[in-house]
Amino acid sequence: MSTLRSVVKGVGGYLPKRVVTNDDLAQLIDTSDEWIAARTGIRERRIVADDELTSTMGVAAARAALGNAGLEAKDIDLIILATSTPDQTFPATAVTIQAELGINHGAAFDIQAVCSGFVFALATADNYLKGGQFKRALVVGSEAFSRILDWQDRSTCVLFGDGAGAVVVEAQKLNGAMSDRGILAACLRSDGRYRDKLYVDGGPSSTGTVGHVRMDGPEVFRHAVTKISEVIGDTLDQAGYQASDIDWFVPHQANKRILDGAARKLGLDPERIVITVDKHANTSAASIPLALNAACADGRIKQGDLVLLEAMGGGFTWGALLIRW
Ligand code: ACO
Repeated sequence: MSTLRSVVKGVGGYLPKRVVTNDDLAQLIDTSDEWIAARTGIRERRIVADDELTSTMGVAAARAALGNAGLEAKDIDLIILATSTPDQTFPATAVTIQAELGINHGAAFDIQAVCSGFVFALATADNYLKGGQFKRALVVGSEAFSRILDWQDRSTCVLFGDGAGAVVVEAQKLNGAMSDRGILAACLRSDGRYRDKLYVDGGPSSTGTVGHVRMDGPEVFRHAVTKISEVIGDTLDQAGYQASDIDWFVPHQANKRILDGAARKLGLDPERIVITVDKHANTSAASIPLALNAACADGRIKQGDLVLLEAMGGGFTWGALLIRW
């Protein structure tokens, strides 16, 4: 039986030039490399230059992904940007990326699911491609999180970084076997009862300001491992696979202790986890495509591999995707 599948054609990333180490932060606030590294695994992060925007980084990552796919901007008819740090309240930053790429057909819009944004965006693109509404999607995660941090709040500002990543996915007619390339399964979840555990204390309809990130770190941590493990289990069940079948686990890069906890609970081989949190910190919706880019560029992820993506973020939102690369 022939069916439409969303196949990953290319991946790209962009990181701002400025590196800020834990020792750099210890010059500004009461913290230390030991505290940050032991609690999170983070050693350094990138921070945007004054003239860089979420759209600027997104365009750079998108161009890299198009180049990697061997495609041109005109081949794209759907752009979905996952971000919590748009250039403006509106229009969607995705349309700025669309215009910068010189695309004026198809559709472009933003998705807001905080750190789960990329998983939500890729699952959304998958549905449009499988439904035959669009042919090729550019799915971008781009975040200038440094612009919404309270740099006096040591419990949050040490955790985040800036950057962008992108993938190109294409609808292909395949026979529907699990051995075929493409997105095999996706599960998305949210539970708004937890929206005050991780949020920004501003917004257009409330304060009229942009606001800063606020987080109950221990509460987020408490929920993360359980929720992540459950949604991964559901995603694997959907496709009829087990954790031992996974070639590469590419999680949202929030905290190495959360990643290790989830991997242990699922019995995933630690050697099979792609980790970038040490170098990038938590880049929210950009962290998964940046990690995919790193693991594809150095040859770890190869065509035919079974790749599991997972994320959890503010809302709470969480989800997982299984891809035959
Ligand atoms: N440097 C030094 N000390 C600090 C720092 C810092 N940067 N930040 C907090 N502390 C202090 C606190 O003030 C507190 O001191 P006190 O005991 O004197 O009051 C002490 O360290 C312990 O604070 P806790 O918040 O209880 O520290 P915890 O061990 O829980 O670690 C952390 C904090 C790393 C934030 C942890 O809770 C965590 O990882 N939570 C998950 C949050 C996360 O990853 N969020 C990312 C977004 S959500 C997502 O993507 C999944």
